[in-house]
Amino acid sequence: MRTAIHQFKEMKARGERFPVLTAYDYTSAKLVEQVGVPLILVGDSLGQVVLGYESTIPVTTEDMLHHCRAVVRGTKKAHIAVDMPFMSYHAEWPEAVRNAGRLIKEGGANSVKLEGGRDLERAVRRMVLAGIPVMGHIGLTPQSLNQLGGYRVQGRTPEAAASLLQDALALEAAGAYAIVLELVPAPLAKAITERLSIPTIGIGAGPHCDGQVQVFHDILGLFEDFVPKHMRRYATLADGVREAVGRYAADVKEGRFPTAAESYDMEEALAEIARRS
Ligand code: KIV
Repeated sequence: MRTAIHQFKEMKARGERFPVLTAYDYTSAKLVEQVGVPLILVGDSLGQVVLGYESTIPVTTEDMLHHCRAVVRGTKKAHIAVDMPFMSYHAEWPEAVRNAGRLIKEGGANSVKLEGGRDLERAVRRMVLAGIPVMGHIGLTPQSLNQLGGYRVQGRTPEAAASLLQDALALEAAGAYAIVLELVPAPLAKAITERLSIPTIGIGAGPHCDGQVQVFHDILGLFEDFVPKHMRRYATLADGVREAVGRYAADVKEGRFPTAAESYDMEEALAEIARRS
């Protein structure tokens, strides 16, 4: 049985912080689950770290379905949340509910995440009524990059801070089971976390959130295009990959790979036939 949404609320009530990590494929999801991460996000950050786009904006529902299925196949216990991509939930709420339903039904996800606050109240309510658990995402919302004009800390003025709190309360009232706070000053994240009964999950939002989320490729040092201040590297795997692939390439060029032990033999008589034919 996978971790259910009520368990995250219970963790908050017990004061138990929980880790959340992104994963985009079978192998990485399996490794993440093996160390007990209870919530895996198939983030649309895959647009940058897997597909090489400049932002998350070009990512499609088909992209999310493809990667979500792989993550679901690699896991048994973790709750799998999947991002709804840009423009899959903005136009009309019936379309938003249908697209969320596809990610649950065809992708095998346990919940969906969408970026925005009060403006999405109706869509969130209808998804929850349809039995689709929803995670909110406020603060820096990367799908609104063109509107926001860059990856900047949000909620720094009294008006902006009050607006973010209203967004959080509206999402909770609409039935969201958790809210990601991205690039929000730590004191504001603390205030929002204390006002909500549902958990907050921070990224660049300080230490007071109920959970923390990071991007798989960032914490492992696999993605080197940019290094946000709020990210901590737990490994430098890009160096390890370059070193290992470099040795492999050199071994092939120098004839050290493969050896006889890494090859398949056949009986001498058959080998002779093969040589003659
Ligand atoms: O797409 C993503 O990975 C995300 C997290 C960084 C919160 O939305």
